[in-house]
Amino acid sequence: MLEQLESTYTQALAELETITHSDALHDWERRYLGKKGAVTLALRATGQLPKDERAAFGKRANEIKNALADAFTGREEMIRQHELAQSLEEGEIDVTLPGRRVPTGGLHPATQTLRRIYAIWAEMGFQVYRSRDVEDDDTNFTLLNIPPHHPARDMWDTFHTTTPGVILRTHTSPGQIRAMHDYGENGTAPIRVILPGMCYRYEQLSARSEIQFNQVEGLAVGRHIHMTDLKGTIAEFARRMFGAEKRVRFRGSYFPFTEPSIEVDVECMICGGDGCPVCKYTGWVEIAGAGMVHPVVLQNGGYDPTEWSGFAFGMGPERMAMNVNGIKDIRYFWQNDLRFLEQF
Ligand code: DAH
Repeated sequence: MLEQLESTYTQALAELETITHSDALHDWERRYLGKKGAVTLALRATGQLPKDERAAFGKRANEIKNALADAFTGREEMIRQHELAQSLEEGEIDVTLPGRRVPTGGLHPATQTLRRIYAIWAEMGFQVYRSRDVEDDDTNFTLLNIPPHHPARDMWDTFHTTTPGVILRTHTSPGQIRAMHDYGENGTAPIRVILPGMCYRYEQLSARSEIQFNQVEGLAVGRHIHMTDLKGTIAEFARRMFGAEKRVRFRGSYFPFTEPSIEVDVECMICGGDGCPVCKYTGWVEIAGAGMVHPVVLQNGGYDPTEWSGFAFGMGPERMAMNVNGIKDIRYFWQNDLRFLEQF
């Protein structure tokens, strides 16, 4: 039996030398080292030998088993290397291909525009004040000089909550009242803030109007603030935002919380004033509503309007982004369509 085992061993080694494929290799493993393999069976038969031969046979059979297992591992590694080299050569793996890109997110176009607006106002000394999205009717309307049955309330179709008097703010202007109370030290301290944030209107969705959109409100309160300060400040903002060469113009307007009220236009960002679809061939694009804070509003903020004055403005970042980039439909902003978002 020992002789037979030795010859199996020699044969197994010889065969192994000729094997070049992993299929054949595993077949070899099964035939010699598997459950019913020759070496395994020989080992199992040890018990049938005469007692005095068992120990020597068993020892040798184990040696052979280990030697074949080592030889197998060595051959397996060799074949693996060989097969890898071959598949590389045959081009199954193209090592010259660039790696797969991990997609990274980007800032939303509204966020990008907001951040530019913050940066410019910050350079001009305006701090960011975050007012609330859920407002009360009083602060959103009444304290801003829009009493309950004032026709101007029609300008702001409102989302009401189930709690009477609690609404979603229709504009960022109520933040003016809150900022005056929080920063004004009972009408004794000057204020220079911008108030950015989401506004909500119960409106028919269209290319021009969304039910939610951002506004950036501005408020300056001091002892000697005049209309010229408003005009100079907002013109400077427009030049920093849209280009130093841009001209700015002011038109008279009406808002209940400012007196006088104006609207601010800047030369069209697309055509530079020659006329194009973005500016509807007027050469001008509206960028803000503004005005001198109404005495009633100053009073509601805790200031004495005979001593204090101020200016305010409100601008729409999505509108600005639309004008600058020629975006035709405001609904793109909150649809989360990557084909739109990836362009910014
Ligand atoms: N709150 C106005 C709106 O939503 C925008 C606005 C106009 C804000 C004039 C102001 C302002 O502060 O002075 O249409």
